[in-house]
Amino acid sequence: MSDPKYVAVVGAGPSGLYAAATLVSSDQVAGVDVLERLPAPYGLVRYGVAPDHRKTKEVVRILQRPFGDGGKVRFLGNVHIGDGGVPLARLREHYQAIIHATGCPSDRDLGVPGERLAGSVGSAAMVGWYSGHPDHAGLAPSLDHTGAVVVGAGNVALDIARVLSLPAEALAATDIPDSVLDHLAASRVRNVHILIRRGPQDVKFTPVELRQLGELDGVDIVVHRPDLVAAAIAASSERREQVILSVFAGWAARATTGADRRIHLHFRCSPTRLEGENGRVRGVVVRSNDAGSNQQSGGGTGRLAAGLVVRAIGYLGKPVDGLPFDASTGTVPNDLGRVNGLPGNYVTGWLRRGPSGVIGTNRADGGEVAAAVLQDLPALPEVLRPGPDPVLETFAEYGLEPVDWQDWLQLDAGERQLGQARGADRVKVAEWTQMLTLCRGSMTA
Ligand SMILES: Cc1cc2nc3c(=O)[nH]c(=O)nc-3n(C[C@H](O)[C@H](O)[C@H](O)COP(=O)(O)OP(=O)(O)OC[C@H]3O[C@@H](n4cnc5c(N)ncnc54)[C@H](O)[C@@H]3O)c2cc1C
Ligand SMILES: NC(=O)c1ccc[n+]([C@@H]2O[C@H](COP(=O)([O-])OP(=O)(O)OC[C@H]3O[C@@H](n4cnc5c(N)ncnc54)[C@H](OP(=O)(O)O)[C@@H]3O)[C@@H](O)[C@H]2O)c1
Repeated sequence: MSDPKYVAVVGAGPSGLYAAATLVSSDQVAGVDVLERLPAPYGLVRYGVAPDHRKTKEVVRILQRPFGDGGKVRFLGNVHIGDGGVPLARLREHYQAIIHATGCPSDRDLGVPGERLAGSVGSAAMVGWYSGHPDHAGLAPSLDHTGAVVVGAGNVALDIARVLSLPAEALAATDIPDSVLDHLAASRVRNVHILIRRGPQDVKFTPVELRQLGELDGVDIVVHRPDLVAAAIAASSERREQVILSVFAGWAARATTGADRRIHLHFRCSPTRLEGENGRVRGVVVRSNDAGSNQQSGGGTGRLAAGLVVRAIGYLGKPVDGLPFDASTGTVPNDLGRVNGLPGNYVTGWLRRGPSGVIGTNRADGGEVAAAVLQDLPALPEVLRPGPDPVLETFAEYGLEPVDWQDWLQLDAGERQLGQARGADRVKVAEWTQMLTLCRGSMTA
């Protein structure tokens, strides 16, 4: 009988939790520790999925399952691996295999002048703010101007445009923190401009999410350059494209209602410069792009008045200390999840594939990587100090006090209690110290 094997999963987002679910079913594995930087699990399901998409968030019922399965899987939150936290080399003392599932937490830049002005933010920060992520609790984006610009043609751009356009009352029954709801209630934003750098046939929006934009009460959709939609319909033979184009065409044909909130769709349009006053964004100079090009070339220029510019142009991976990293894709080079040149290390989710794909995509990915771990485990070298307790001693050396699953459930209960006052399932607590206070058993947020 070989020694018991222990596996660490770093990151409690969908990919890490799907991997843990596969590992737990194997007799080879004595224990799995899910090590998470935040005091709360679920990654972008908690801190990305839009607050008004409550049904989508119900996937946590599946994601939480490994933690109830006979105690073989532990949640250790509030522990930062690498990047000033516990070095990877110290983790290797305790686990035969480590699955890295830390996602793509950063924002891409546009690379245009004015991008550092106050009021210019990335989608990870913006979404993190309204989702109650403790890293972004202090963002308070500029909503003091009637115009806002969202750059990008993916589902994240749609989420942000929707949140900026909905009246605060419509968000009261969601989980957004009280401070965010207050900030949105005071918003002066009435015109949200979505800048799409290519044509209407090239957008990354998915049909269900796109249609939702046109169903918002009290919001008109303004399709600029409807000629591009008509031309794309004439040229398109692909089913998915046709569905999307028919949505745009329906909006272009629809009479506006005179609502004071509007979402504008600008095709073949790129920002070339952000203009400011007193260090704050006050406008975006845009340029229309030539047909077929995603570069800022040709066409005319214009200016959109705005106090907020959100770059929703894709998230960006971050190097993991001790692992190879491909800066061009923001991912860790791997072969079927096995990190190149580092036996015993694996990668899954957005850190493996890059920042695209829905929650379900991570199920197959996490399962595949866990299967690779199970295949390799018998041949991986024994470790110095296996077992559940020594790793806690190592965390203590770095001043880390993990929160466990029971602690998280106390935070969870505290948020649900806060929700009652607003008629919401929960209201998120976004400040780190308040999260920990609730984890440690005080019900007062
Ligand atoms: C704004 C937004 C909205 C989305 N909405 C939907 C939707 O409605 N439906 C859908 O199907 N998909 C949606 N997606 C996609 C979906 O969220 C992703 O496919 C999925 O979350 C990726 O999973 P992951 O595990 O790779 O990364 P993540 O979910 O990002 O999880 C990574 C985890 O690792 C932790 N971590 C990071 N660094 C460290 C460290 N050093 N040490 C320890 N832990 C660390 C993070 O805190 C996080 O919990 C959305 C994505 C975004 C960005
Ligand atoms: N409800 C849902 O199911 C849901 C909600 C949110 C997110 N998600 C998923 O999460 C993943 C990430 O979404 P995402 O929206 O961040 O990424 P995405 O789908 O990759 O979209 C990014 C968009 O940014 C554009 N872009 C990139 N660089 C640009 C630049 N320099 N200037 C202008 N535009 C630029 C891209 O245009 P090009 O095509 O021209 O490159 C693309 O339209 C996706 O798989 C998405 O489906 C799902």
